[in-house]
Amino acid sequence: MQKRSLGHAGFEIAPIVFGGNVFGWTIDEKASFDVLDAFVDHGFDAIDTADVYSAWAPGNKGGESETIIGNWLKARPGMRDKVKIFTKVGSDLGVPGQKGLSETWILQAVEASLARLGVERIDLYFSHWPDPHTPYAETLGAYDKLLKAGKIRAIGASNLDAMQLDEALHVARAKDLPAYQVLQPEYNLYDRSSFDGPLRDLCLREGLGVVTYYSLASGFLSGKYRSKDDLGQSRRGEGIGKYLDARGLRILAALDDVAARHGASDAEVALAWLIAREGVTAPIASATKRSHVESFAKAVALALGAEDIAALDQASAP
Ligand SMILES: NC(=O)c1ccc[n+]([C@@H]2O[C@H](COP(=O)([O-])OP(=O)(O)OC[C@H]3O[C@@H](n4cnc5c(N)ncnc54)[C@H](OP(=O)(O)O)[C@@H]3O)[C@@H](O)[C@H]2O)c1
Repeated sequence: MQKRSLGHAGFEIAPIVFGGNVFGWTIDEKASFDVLDAFVDHGFDAIDTADVYSAWAPGNKGGESETIIGNWLKARPGMRDKVKIFTKVGSDLGVPGQKGLSETWILQAVEASLARLGVERIDLYFSHWPDPHTPYAETLGAYDKLLKAGKIRAIGASNLDAMQLDEALHVARAKDLPAYQVLQPEYNLYDRSSFDGPLRDLCLREGLGVVTYYSLASGFLSGKYRSKDDLGQSRRGEGIGKYLDARGLRILAALDDVAARHGASDAEVALAWLIAREGVTAPIASATKRSHVESFAKAVALALGAEDIAALDQASAP
């Protein structure tokens, strides 16, 4: 599989990253091992998680996803050298002091993530959300310490808008601190506005790697939800109703047409559109079954034509 250079992170990845928020939520440890095995067997090599995954599931407190990934790495000798592990800090873990991007919390949180993952170094460490209470210089200073100590290999930011990212890059330059090398924005055929435009332009200008999240709009872009009656198919269903509007249905119709032309599925086309998008290094997508992982491999092999892309662009135009 053709690898892509991940911005200034200093390493390459295959063009789809596994989204680890399903581990310990919509799938248990055994099913998680199975989809991770399938993912690697297909030639993929990067996994995204966060300290907070999957705290929202009943009975969880966060850290479950990292723990499952750590257990999988331990159970598969030699696997650590084959995959890149991305994780995040900064979400509210629901315990006083355990949120945000202060130096104190980052230096503590990274140790907990390393322990759960059972690794000596995190390949890419993300600031999960902007923290209005902590100056960029403090956060980047903490990352500087972790980079120098070899506990992380590269840094990224998630959920920053163009102004925030620009300022963070400016602070890094002005204070001789490490700069964010990768951005993780929400981006898919339905949710285009948070990346298209100034943020994409900035990433292109600065050479940042971009890994998009909710790449399948939580499964909506697979086409398996067409009406409210379909929402019960997955535990995610209740979050998907918001896509069932006229624009969402127009996007599904365009996906259906392009998919029929290529003998592909809607999910494959939606991911192939992202892979072909200027400025995107790799979509992050999660899977709960081996067949989903197979659709990821087919998406990488699917070459959309200019006519396909124009039809999808037009149907999804905001
Ligand atoms: N940085 C952030 O703030 C942030 C926020 C959210 C997510 N993320 C990252 O992005 C990742 C992806 O987001 P996500 O998992 O929420 O959503 P997603 O990738 O948009 O949707 C994936 C879900 O769609 C379904 N699916 C996948 N392939 C399919 C196929 N071929 N056919 C039919 N259904 C298919 C599966 O759910 P079912 O089987 O349950 O239907 C799967 O769990 C997360 O795991 C996380 O790593 C980051």
